[in-house]
Amino acid sequence: MNTETGIEPVQKKIKLFDPYIGIEEEKAVTRVLHSGFWASGAGTGNVAKFEHAFNKFVGSRQCIAVNSGTAALHLALKLFDIRNKEVIIPSLSFVATAHAVLYNGGKPVFVDVDNETLCVDPDMIKKSISKKTQVILPVHFGGMPCNLTEIMSVCHENNINLVEDAAHASGASFNGKNIGQHGHAVCFSFHPVKNLAMPGGGAITLNGTKSSIFAKTLKESRWFGISDRHGPFYDVKSEGWNYYMNEFSAAIGIEQLKKLGVMNKIRKNIAKQYFNEINLEHKMPLDENCSYHLYWIRVKNRNKFIKKMTEYNIEVGIHYKPIHTMSYYNVRQNLPITKMIENELVSIPMHPNLTDSDISRVVKTVNEFS
Ligand SMILES: Cc1ncc(COP(=O)(O)O)c(C=O)c1O
Repeated sequence: MNTETGIEPVQKKIKLFDPYIGIEEEKAVTRVLHSGFWASGAGTGNVAKFEHAFNKFVGSRQCIAVNSGTAALHLALKLFDIRNKEVIIPSLSFVATAHAVLYNGGKPVFVDVDNETLCVDPDMIKKSISKKTQVILPVHFGGMPCNLTEIMSVCHENNINLVEDAAHASGASFNGKNIGQHGHAVCFSFHPVKNLAMPGGGAITLNGTKSSIFAKTLKESRWFGISDRHGPFYDVKSEGWNYYMNEFSAAIGIEQLKKLGVMNKIRKNIAKQYFNEINLEHKMPLDENCSYHLYWIRVKNRNKFIKKMTEYNIEVGIHYKPIHTMSYYNVRQNLPITKMIENELVSIPMHPNLTDSDISRVVKTVNEFS
């Protein structure tokens, strides 16, 4: 025991992320295991059931399941033919957001984020629009909904498509509507650390008049472009990928979706406690509509802070090193807010398995060493 801080350095490890599973997921996996039906490119069985349930939950027109959030972004952007066109994205995101633009032959145009929410700043989007802008791709950072009213009006005025990166935002909402109901295509990730966890998975929800045509295209492109299947006979009329979701992921997803509301409520309560009890000026704000995939704080001496948190067995993360600063992108760009925060951001443990004593320990340790 450190007599000054009252904190034990060596205690149970507190994980940064941790999926929340129960007997329901265990039974679902066992059922699939014994069924002998583990996957189908056509997306029948549990995949179709999951798509139906997620579509209903979100309130979107169509939902297509894939095997990752990255695949969702790749295929969603493909719908809007961005070859040699520009896609506006925040630099403060996981690199998948930008890579998906490159997969499709497009150019990512990086913009700055809002100081308070770390979501993309609509004014910065407006300033970045050019004749080549084909898609605006906001990221609901940490599950905090972006200002979709403003972004949708920019899209509408300029005849630009809206594809959302909702990898962090399963169960988040904006203006009384679930995230997934706004953009032309909205991309979710169900990676094990996400709010709705699977071994791997993603989905694209679709809205607007072209939803049915897009859904058909996506079903083909997630399975090698296969179409017109009649028993063993089929045709391939377009390029496609091995991106379909497997039955284990879908079966787990069906159970996770039933708990998503409860799990997100627990996350919100943890966020409330962090917000109220952490003595830092800059931290993730409180918002009832946020899904709190992660909880970020800003600290001045990050390396020292991370070292101390690690020493005290509390896992922390950095979300994210801005994409435009990665060696592969290495774009010279003036993004003042991103630049100001890039060496200060730290994510602290956020998941529904945290106990009251874990949360108190995180708060105490953060307050001590930040
Ligand atoms: C913002 C964001 N977009 C996209 C992805 C990609 O999702 P996946 O890991 O399921 O491919 C992630 C995953 O961490 C993410 O955080």
